[in-house]
Amino acid sequence: MERTLAIIKPDATKRNLIGAILKKIEEAGFTIIGTKMLRLSKEQAESFYVVHKERPFFNSLVEFMTSGPVVALALEKENAVADLRKLMGATNPEEAEEGTIRKEFAINIEQNSIHGSDSPENAQRELYFFFSEAELIAGTR
Ligand code: RTP
Ligand code: MG
Repeated sequence: MERTLAIIKPDATKRNLIGAILKKIEEAGFTIIGTKMLRLSKEQAESFYVVHKERPFFNSLVEFMTSGPVVALALEKENAVADLRKLMGATNPEEAEEGTIRKEFAINIEQNSIHGSDSPENAQRELYFFFSEAELIAGTR
C-alpha cells in the first residue's frame, strides 16, 4: 500500500464540486484515510509550493490557493502516487485525457481543481504538512 496527498483546490470548492471529485477518487479505488477542510494562509501556501518559488506563476498560484477553502485528502492505494496523477490528468485541462478530473472540472492551467503529490518522497512531506500520523486512520476498516 502507498499513500499520497491530494488537495481539492479553491476553484472546485467554490463551485460545490467536492462531492463529485471525491466520488471519482473513491470509484478509482482510493481509500480516504484522512480529510480536512481549511483555508490556507499565505505563509502556508508559500511553504507548500516552495519548490515553485522561482517560477513566474508562483505569486499567482499562492494568491489562487489562498482565495477560498481547500480540502486536503490523505489517500491510500497500491501505486497511489502514480495512479492519482493519472486520475487528475495533465496540468493544463486542454491537454488532459477524457475521464480525468481536470478534463471534467478544471477551468484553466492554474485553476485546475486538484493537486496530487508527484513522487512518494513528496507525498510523505505533503501528508505531514496537513496531517499527523494519529489523524490517519489507515487499516481500520
Ligand atoms: P499540482 O502540483 O498542483 O498537483 O499540479 P501539477 O504537478 O500538475 O503542476 P505543477 O507544475 O506542479 O504546478 C503547480 C500548480 O501551479 C499552477 N500553475 N500555473 N500559469 C501557469 O502556467 C501555471 N503552471 C502551473 C497550477 O495550479 C498547477 O497545478
Ligand atoms: Mg506539482
